[in-house]
Amino acid sequence: MDATRIPPADDGTPTHRDGPAAARRPRVMVLFGGRSGEHAISCATAGGVLRAIDRERYDVVAVGITRAGQWVLADDDPDHWAIRDGRLPQVEDTSTHVLLPQGTADREVQVLRDGRLESPLEAVDVVFPLLHGPFGEDGTVQGLLELADVRYVGSGVLASAVGMDKHMMKLVLAGSGLRIGPFRVLPAGRTVDAQTVDTVVAELGLPLFVKPARAGSSLGISRVEDPADLPAAVAEAREHDPKVIIEAAIVGREIECGVLGGRAGSPPRASLPGEIVVTDARHAFYDFEAKYLDEAGVTLACPAELAPDVVARVQDVAVRAFEAVGCEGLARVDVFVREDGEVVVNEINTMPGFTPYSMYPRMWEVSGLGYDELVDELVSLALERPLGLR
Ligand SMILES: Nc1ncnc2c1ncn2[C@@H]1O[C@H](COP(=O)(O)OP(=O)(O)O)[C@@H](O)[C@H]1O
Ligand SMILES: [Mg+2]
Repeated sequence: MDATRIPPADDGTPTHRDGPAAARRPRVMVLFGGRSGEHAISCATAGGVLRAIDRERYDVVAVGITRAGQWVLADDDPDHWAIRDGRLPQVEDTSTHVLLPQGTADREVQVLRDGRLESPLEAVDVVFPLLHGPFGEDGTVQGLLELADVRYVGSGVLASAVGMDKHMMKLVLAGSGLRIGPFRVLPAGRTVDAQTVDTVVAELGLPLFVKPARAGSSLGISRVEDPADLPAAVAEAREHDPKVIIEAAIVGREIECGVLGGRAGSPPRASLPGEIVVTDARHAFYDFEAKYLDEAGVTLACPAELAPDVVARVQDVAVRAFEAVGCEGLARVDVFVREDGEVVVNEINTMPGFTPYSMYPRMWEVSGLGYDELVDELVSLALERPLGLR
């Protein structure tokens, strides 16, 4: 079968016209790629999900978003999307154009091929937006799906936007009584003169972490030890986002915790925590290379070796952060555990890395929920949630 063609629903499977979603196999749109710097990582994640998703239970449609923002029918063969030998996958324009419904009356997704309407047109019950970074993880795509009245996996518009912006995220977390580290924000366009450098260093000390406010995968992040390097670090961060955040370095173990939304009104669930251990001194921190290209340079210890009371505290902080931001479905909460045992939140990711080798699925695996079951659980959570304001 041409993998970029929507499989026809002529196998006796009832379609949406025959009744509610429960009466037939739910159709899941796996959505990936996108306009952000994390395009390739999103493709790799989609590969993992396309491999794991139970095609007996769900009809799967793979839709890629090109770097230019075009929604296209994509190859649903998982192998196409793997990161291999350092080669990063990307969504190519397949001369198709996927259009969401524009009202609440139906859930039909239209496909144009070379500008002409292609049939059959099928309904989508749930979108799995495996998008990282701006224009995907930040509430923009979520907003589009809300307008189309289509259910989707993960957080809604506000939580996604808050989770994306490291500045807003810190305000919300701190406002909910969670511990965060000291930081300063450089708004878009603000220049970094000698006085700014002096003030920042006097306030936050050295080293500093300079970050784009809205990015991920460590893109554009620098660890600055010499104040003279601060302007260049800000310029680098601004290649990803005009708004920049500067943080004091936190000394502590890098611990992450997976959170899953609760079923049917029950509270969110926290996984066993994992630990990031950067073992190769060439990486000054958990940078892009260490995350995706240099598997030997970093160890994901899963579960993390932590005393039971620390595990309980990390899990408590993770669930509180999830609820503070108003997340739905899933999130990964990353913290530093300081030597004195204090848990300082670094960030919350509303669409964490999700390949089978990523920390989020691995933390669930050691907590008793395998990758396939996790994918199934996320789709089920999305299917059970109401449409509209919730
Ligand atoms: N304030 C900090 N103190 C110490 N290390 C940090 C700090 N901020 C970030 N790091 C290091 O940089 C990495 C990436 O930063 P993070 O804020 O998680 O950005 P991203 O959203 O790109 O993952 C972290 O995993 C950690 O290794
Ligand atoms: Mg991070």
